Amino acid sequence: MPNDSRTKTVLVALLLCLVCSVVVSTAAVSLRPLQEANKALDKKRNILQIAGMMREDVSIDEAFELIEARVVDLKTGEYLDSVDPANYDQRKAAKDPAASRALSKDEDVASIRRRADQATVYLVRDQEELKTIILPIHGYGLWSTMYGFIALEGDAQTISGFGFYEHAETPGLGGEIDNPQWKAQWPGKLVYDDSGDVAIEVMKGAVGEATPQPQFKVDGLAGATLTSRGVTNLLRFWLGEQGFKPYLERIRQG
Ligand SMILES: Cc1cc2nc3c(=O)[nH]c(=O)nc-3n(C[C@H](O)[C@H](O)[C@H](O)COP(=O)(O)O)c2cc1C
Repeated sequence: MPNDSRTKTVLVALLLCLVCSVVVSTAAVSLRPLQEANKALDKKRNILQIAGMMREDVSIDEAFELIEARVVDLKTGEYLDSVDPANYDQRKAAKDPAASRALSKDEDVASIRRRADQATVYLVRDQEELKTIILPIHGYGLWSTMYGFIALEGDAQTISGFGFYEHAETPGLGGEIDNPQWKAQWPGKLVYDDSGDVAIEVMKGAVGEATPQPQFKVDGLAGATLTSRGVTNLLRFWLGEQGFKPYLERIRQG
């Protein structure tokens, strides 16, 4: 066909589209297992970082062998040995009406709408003694659902680490939840007050000498009151009755 033929132009364009779409879909399909593996590795890295167990000299998989994953029934706080933590996907379960429950307006302080019935927790033991409990948490900030982990000491009351691995808050404002200096304030803070209520909060302004009960308070993020409030809310939810409170109470009772 001559080069200025309309049919040839259309045919070449169609052929080019077809070749490109085959290349793109082959790449997407063949890279999916690699993406899944990288995602799983990234999650392990985050758990290790929050547990303070990241080491330069060993691989992430090797360091993660010291961490025991268990699935917990959030309602009763009991371990579910019948569920393999390697195959349980809490985020997927939260979308499945058969594996989650819809939260009422009053219950949904973290603005997540549904909560999976089960959750994966990560434990670090020294001999038989429970040293660290790492809990998955998530909730809405200003622009996005923020996903992270909180690490508690074996007393199920003292925070030993806290951080997010996925969010879309504004860098420099809400995105300061990733600032190492802000995150460094969390270890040593306490979760529950004497009456057993969740007392930990991100306050407005900075924690100072005059701040009442500073053991429960962390500096607010300047110019990001809404993200800060989101962090307080998700902690209230996940450490409360609808979250890990029944489980943590069981741990405290031994
Ligand atoms: C472009 C833009 C991005 C913003 N991103 C955030 C954010 O990520 N988190 C947040 O809490 N506030 C963010 N804000 C500010 C909020 O709109 C709101 O003003 C602020 O949370 C109030 O906090 P302040 O009382 O500390 O000033 C953003 C504002 C603008 C204009």
